[in-house]
Amino acid sequence: MSQKIFIKTFGCQMNEYDSNRIYDTVKKIGFNKTNNYEDANCFLLNTCHIRDKAKEKVYHEIGRVKKLFRSKKKPLVIVAGCVAQAENEEMLKREPFIDLVIGPQSYHKINNTILNHIRKKKKIEETEFDAISKFEYLSKIDNNTKKVSSFLTIQEGCDKFCHFCVVPYTRGPEYSRPFKQILDEAKYLIDNGVKEIILLGQNVNAYNNEGFKLSDLILEIEKFSSVERIRYTTSHPKDMTDDLIEVYKNSKKLMPLVHLPVQSGSDKILNLMNRKHSIKEYLNTFDKLIKINSNIKFSSDFIIGYPGEEKQDFENTLELIKKIRFINSYSFIFSPRPGTVAADLKLTEKKISMERLEEIQNLLFENQININKSLENNTINVLVENLTDNKTQVFGRSEYMTSVIFDGKKEDIGKILPVRIKQSNRSTLFGESTINSNKRVA
Ligand code: SAM
Ligand code: SF4
Ligand code: F3S
Repeated sequence: MSQKIFIKTFGCQMNEYDSNRIYDTVKKIGFNKTNNYEDANCFLLNTCHIRDKAKEKVYHEIGRVKKLFRSKKKPLVIVAGCVAQAENEEMLKREPFIDLVIGPQSYHKINNTILNHIRKKKKIEETEFDAISKFEYLSKIDNNTKKVSSFLTIQEGCDKFCHFCVVPYTRGPEYSRPFKQILDEAKYLIDNGVKEIILLGQNVNAYNNEGFKLSDLILEIEKFSSVERIRYTTSHPKDMTDDLIEVYKNSKKLMPLVHLPVQSGSDKILNLMNRKHSIKEYLNTFDKLIKINSNIKFSSDFIIGYPGEEKQDFENTLELIKKIRFINSYSFIFSPRPGTVAADLKLTEKKISMERLEEIQNLLFENQININKSLENNTINVLVENLTDNKTQVFGRSEYMTSVIFDGKKEDIGKILPVRIKQSNRSTLFGESTINSNKRVA
């Protein structure tokens, strides 16, 4: 069987990892990837349920595919990811154009599900939580991502039940993959040219497999001589334990950017959100990290206008941002999610939330602009990931994940090069490689 699959991915890095692994899997039954909608005879939408009208967006997307194929043979349509998990068989009932609905912990069944559907023409829904089987199955299939910087999921699901969040319902209970299974996958990636590994989990620093923790994994992975950089995301402040903080003392490979979502600067709101820590505890973690390694910078996620957020609570958030000077943070207005504790709480007035969002983003963006500006005329180390779209320059990232564009060449991909920054804007640094320019002068 030779088929062409088009995978469209929404949501977080864990969905990106899953989409790559789904592709590694369906290749075994004859599917090749296409980046062209029109060529495909199979569409897979890997969906996200975290905010807004996630469900409606999926139906809208399916509507587009339907239109496109009005006068052609109907493609196989698969909905995967967190909306699939949340909506399950309802999706098959509401939209007959959908053939298969597969939740995030059923991807080990995807080949059989597709083949069954092709044989029996039956609509199928698979939404059991079975993380053990998923990763056991995937560990037997090579991870062929082969990007300079690759994701590696080490932990899935969440037991924290923050009152605003759907993840515990869409990804199930917390599960940590076996230590050796992860090291084998890391080794395979590194042997195949990967230079940066980004360890993933909805609660990555809660990783615990038979006593092995995230700190143990980082220390083991950095022993592979050809891996250059290690990162992890997303962490919960409560799980930022001393053993993990200690790794920042001596590690040359763990990057000095800590993404530590705080959501709000107000203890009252953190309590209402069921975040299980106070601002004092958050600041204590911040102090410990800075003390152990003064190069560390922080980024965060913020939820604005959570039910009960008053002016003073919002001002506390602004205060915290001024204190920590976060870089690259994400901020969104609270979006009530079906099935969560906060789903039916009285909303903050929309106009107020919008004004607060604008204010917080102005402050966050101002920090980013100033930090990037301060790098102009300095030389920083950049891991080169690929050529830019017009192929005349290269794209890479600084140690703090900031995008850098400079005058490199194809052979630079996968190398860490010193780059002198000439210009910057909020999201990108522009420079030239000092190695290249020295050569040119010589
Ligand atoms: N596990 C991480 C943590 O504890 O911070 C967060 C993972 S969640 C997938 C990513 C971000 O989405 C959260 O940090 C939060 O800011 C945002 N988010 C989650 N639910 C939301 C909601 N109902 N409305 C707005 N933003 C939300
Ligand atoms: Fe969601 Fe993160 Fe809270 Fe878990 S810890 S419920 S993933 S916000
Ligand atoms: Fe979205 Fe699911 Fe990730 S809800 S953010 S795709 S865990």
